[in-house]
Amino acid sequence: MSITSEKDLIGIKNAGKAVAITLKKMREFAKPGMSTKTLDEYGLSVLNEFGAVPAPMKEYNFPGFTCISVNHEACHGIPSHSRILQEGDLVNIDVSAEVDGYYADNGGSFVLGKDMQGLEPLVKASKEILQEAIGQIKDRVRISDVGGFIHQAAKKRGYTVIKNLCGHGVGRKLHEAPFEIACFRDRLNRGRFRRNSVIALETFISTKANFVYEMADGWTMQPKDNSFVAQHEHTLIVTDGEPIIVTADNEIY
Ligand code: CO
Ligand code: CO
Repeated sequence: MSITSEKDLIGIKNAGKAVAITLKKMREFAKPGMSTKTLDEYGLSVLNEFGAVPAPMKEYNFPGFTCISVNHEACHGIPSHSRILQEGDLVNIDVSAEVDGYYADNGGSFVLGKDMQGLEPLVKASKEILQEAIGQIKDRVRISDVGGFIHQAAKKRGYTVIKNLCGHGVGRKLHEAPFEIACFRDRLNRGRFRRNSVIALETFISTKANFVYEMADGWTMQPKDNSFVAQHEHTLIVTDGEPIIVTADNEIY
């Protein structure tokens, strides 16, 4: 969507705050021995405090309130009573929700407790690349240039990017135009970022994979090799200068 009024700006900021605080609190709540379903239900309780409705369920009938992906799962992991978090797990929580007709989307990967799989550098790279990429975005910048920047930044650190997962426009729905903000230079994408538009920028940085595939549950996406993927995502408003990060309440990411 494009912000055209003070009401839009306040609406997006409220949605951004709800998902950002929920993500932050879920990360703090996550402990080894806890099921991802318990973590998801806690997330719903925080969203409820903001009057926020979980977007994946509302828009796509996703079987969970948030997406929780563990270890080799890259995204859209289904919260489950049988999935018990372990010390050292790579955990990705992605929270998207609607408040008063406005949507925001915020996600992040982290290592739970001690870094027993040596994945902290991957997480750090993804987080830094997101921040650097946000710094590249302003009115009229080519979407493909930012994708190329993310890819180069990943390569420089010895990582790959996932080519079939991407960021997107957001605001009045969870996913709206521009539908594909890729993590590589997509030469077919002639689009540019536009002032006042609301976008969800996402990194998908991997130890060695280039693609992810849908698992038998019909939702979870993961690489076919045993590589890992870290994702960080912020919802932001494009301006003539630095974007306004509406999910910045989550200072951890
Ligand atoms: Co998301
Ligand atoms: Co998103």
